[in-house]
Amino acid sequence: MLLSVRRPFRILPPVMSKEIVVSGIRSTGFLHLGNYFGAMRNYVKMQDEYNCYFFVADYHSLTTHPDPKDLRANVYRVVAENVACGLDPEKVALYAQSDVPEIPELYLMLNMLAYMGELEKVPTFKDKVRQQPQNVNAGLLTYPVLMTADIIIHKAVKVPVGKDQEQHIEMARNFVNRFNNRYGELFPEPYPFNYSSELIKVPSLDGTGKMSKSENENATLYLADEDDIIRKKVMKAKTDSGPTEHNSEMPEYIQNLFLLMGLVSTPDVVDTYKKAFNECTIRYGDMKKQLAEDMVQFIAPIREKTKELHANEDAIKKILKEGAEKARASASVTIAEARKLIGINYY
Ligand code: TRP
Repeated sequence: MLLSVRRPFRILPPVMSKEIVVSGIRSTGFLHLGNYFGAMRNYVKMQDEYNCYFFVADYHSLTTHPDPKDLRANVYRVVAENVACGLDPEKVALYAQSDVPEIPELYLMLNMLAYMGELEKVPTFKDKVRQQPQNVNAGLLTYPVLMTADIIIHKAVKVPVGKDQEQHIEMARNFVNRFNNRYGELFPEPYPFNYSSELIKVPSLDGTGKMSKSENENATLYLADEDDIIRKKVMKAKTDSGPTEHNSEMPEYIQNLFLLMGLVSTPDVVDTYKKAFNECTIRYGDMKKQLAEDMVQFIAPIREKTKELHANEDAIKKILKEGAEKARASASVTIAEARKLIGINYY
């Protein structure tokens, strides 16, 4: 005889929920080595440990009125580049911001809790006002509000971002607290996150500042650069006639070359050249040749994988579609809760 056992409730195994991570990727311009070591490598590392939502910030980019054709091509390229760098669309939700309508909905709600005075004070806004006085639109002003919606739509607690974004995350915490105080506890406070306390700044090849799109193109290595371009850029890096005293202090531009070498060459290669520097036998020409070859070895596979994926539009569309589905599954739950707390759920 079959006994049917009625259990008053099902006993579920304990759920080990992973912490939630959100980050937005800007869809402007080509990615360079600074982006790789500053951001993407972090993303790739995080995908195994956390529940990650990474999106292309296409709505944010509308603040500068991009040409629609360019915008679309940029979004596809960003997806291809990020996957080529090791982001696994099976492990993370990789999506376009504009494919998740719950984000602008939450943004609208949050706009009612954000004040003109605080938004006008934001340094990144003031920079934009200076840079593009002819286009100071409301989207620029409320950029931190949209960013908050991006993050808290998934109730993220960790946001991998650079130093320049930390103030935006602080504002996100303010908006979160304002919402929670007014309507009831819904959102956790998000914090900036990075693996190393000291963020890696990839120096540019001309010895001034870091690699960046806006500063010096020729001193910046792009993940799309062809081999001979990489070689040319590296060989042009600033050096001098070499040290004349044993164990002398390294000039900053030489330290930078060693830093770059540390990122792409093997430790024994780095040690060999360090020793040569200390013994005044270093030949910078040789060092740069070595660095150039190791850089080529590093960048070429990423570049080729990007090209291959970029050429496969169907694959990219599939990634974006599946990413959007994952993101909306999470976002729709949050937005329903927010609507309920606010009192705008009518049936
Ligand atoms: N503002 C970020 C940048 O300029 C991009 C971004 C948009 C973002 N929304 C975000 C980053 C949400 C983290 C979380 O790089």
